[in-house]
Amino acid sequence: MLSKKRSLDGLPSHERLLSFTYGGRSFSQDIPRFEIPDHGIPPESAYRLIADELNLDGNPSLNLATFVTTWMEPEAERLIALTLNKNLVDQEEYPQTGVIQERVVNILARLFNAPSGEGGTGTSTVGSSEAIMLALLAHKTRWKRERKARGLPSDRPNIVASSGVHVVWEKFARYFEVDLKLLPMEGDRYTLSPQAVAEAVDERTICVGAILGSTYTGHLDPVEEIDLVLREIREKKGWDIPIHVDGASGGFVLPFLEPDLRWDFRLSQVRSINVSGHKYGLVYPGIGWLLFRDQEDLPEELVFKVNYLGGEESTYTLNFSRGSSMMLAQYYMLLRLGFEGYRRVHATSLSNARWLAKKISENGKFDLIGGADHLPIVSFGVWRDAGFSAVDFSEKLRERGWIVPAYTLPADLSDRTILRVVVKENFSRDMGNLLMSDIDRAISALVGKTPGRKRAHRAPRVC
Ligand SMILES: Cc1ncc(COP(=O)(O)O)c(C=O)c1O
Repeated sequence: MLSKKRSLDGLPSHERLLSFTYGGRSFSQDIPRFEIPDHGIPPESAYRLIADELNLDGNPSLNLATFVTTWMEPEAERLIALTLNKNLVDQEEYPQTGVIQERVVNILARLFNAPSGEGGTGTSTVGSSEAIMLALLAHKTRWKRERKARGLPSDRPNIVASSGVHVVWEKFARYFEVDLKLLPMEGDRYTLSPQAVAEAVDERTICVGAILGSTYTGHLDPVEEIDLVLREIREKKGWDIPIHVDGASGGFVLPFLEPDLRWDFRLSQVRSINVSGHKYGLVYPGIGWLLFRDQEDLPEELVFKVNYLGGEESTYTLNFSRGSSMMLAQYYMLLRLGFEGYRRVHATSLSNARWLAKKISENGKFDLIGGADHLPIVSFGVWRDAGFSAVDFSEKLRERGWIVPAYTLPADLSDRTILRVVVKENFSRDMGNLLMSDIDRAISALVGKTPGRKRAHRAPRVC
């Protein structure tokens, strides 16, 4: 017989045994928000409390703002769960995880046409931000070493890039004391001008940054033309200025969709490339990759050797410990899809993005800025006489769950506010149609007309 005595949480113990999680004490009392509680709660209660609170977040599938993967197949998720307890840095203990990381570095080095056929030089990182910091640090160190060797001053190094760089470039400049010369966008040009690069570089330029594609609009910097300009400068002035390609999104798209486009290690000044595995590499956050053209592009003094995990290990990362799941999930994706699989997935996204760009430009309220020419990214502004602002429009769409960010462009176009849709694998044509009808509805609501859906759902009048 079940006892009728009351237990500590105030419930009779027979009820406690039978009660569902939602009948427990944790659900009828405040939970501590800023202090560790004195006592714990059952695992299912802790799980439900947090999972339910997170329902207030946006729906990742409708998050068209993020470049980051929001869907992976169940087998990938199983592999991720299987490897959550492995620290990637413990390569002595988990040697096979280390072997797999090397394999992916090699696969990417080949994908980016690195010249040394034998093995790529690179590492996995938390994302493109860490990869960019490590690449720029390598270029700074190398430049300093060469200047010192030639008896030249090695202070005031600089980087030349477009004002459309991601914030991590500015972080690097501030954290690592490098001047950042940002060349402005102007008119309808949202990318770096090779002529402006030629005028901006000098003997203190440690590298030129080229973005594939821009976080703001999705456009590609003209890497091949920049490479040509820098080769001419090398011949005329003797300055060997490397290019770092920020391929955060494009690095995992262009090799599959436009293999003949020359932006990678086929160009001699391209010495390092970053790519986010968690963007079009189709893996959940956080995984990024950094590749060097050659071993000599990574100065030896930056690679640390440690033996406190057992054997001797080399590390070139900003953080030491890190999960291995996403790195392993990257290998899963490469095996699972192969070249043809990546090509088909990205070709579908590109075709859906171009369809969306066409619909948006035909709508009459928007000014198309980036129409998914190379990457599945659509950016657009709102016409001045549209009767609503980009910010109002973004907020209106949010009411239906769609997350389409409105933001200002960088210098010299910072008076323009635009919107962007990043089309990802799980954005089908059907989703596109749903988005377009919600766009029409949002416009109707904003310009004060009765939204079409309400009319359609009105009950028939009985005469
Ligand atoms: C061009 C570019 N560079 C760098 C980054 C930073 O990448 P991560 O989020 O992988 O650190 C982004 C992110 O959107 C980006 O678009």
